[in-house]
Amino acid sequence: MSDITKADLALLAFAREAQEKAYAPYSGFRVGAAVYAGGEIYQGCNVENAAYGSSICAERGAAMAAVQAGNTFFDGIAVVGDSEDPTVPCGACRQFLAEFNPEMRVVMGGRLDHVRASSLDELLPDAFVRGYLDQDEPSK
Ligand code: THU
Repeated sequence: MSDITKADLALLAFAREAQEKAYAPYSGFRVGAAVYAGGEIYQGCNVENAAYGSSICAERGAAMAAVQAGNTFFDGIAVVGDSEDPTVPCGACRQFLAEFNPEMRVVMGGRLDHVRASSLDELLPDAFVRGYLDQDEPSK
């Protein structure tokens, strides 16, 4: 947990804007996200599917937009959902985001005014990152 800055609230506002685009006819739980990378903002919303498991989270949508624009280092992400408590990124999204900076700032909001901020490595300690792939095979 850490103190909320003006920059956090500004990023959260972009996430709230993206939340309005959520396509969530099955869960009814609308989520928006905004990634800050390379001085730009990239938004995403959850997009559900009749085959429920094919649904995509807002955070990964925003991450995809940033990477497609050529930004692979994220300073931070804001996520906002319909929950009363600030919505936290799901486990799969934490792992997905760790690829693009395991120490990025994560700002979280919900339906109410309560805002929470953290770093990704607090939410996902000891993430599996590319460095592991570069290590030599263990000897047999
Ligand atoms: N969802 C997100 O978009 N991000 C999260 O981190 C948590 C869950 C979406 C997935 C699904 O569309 C809905 O919220 C309910 O799980």
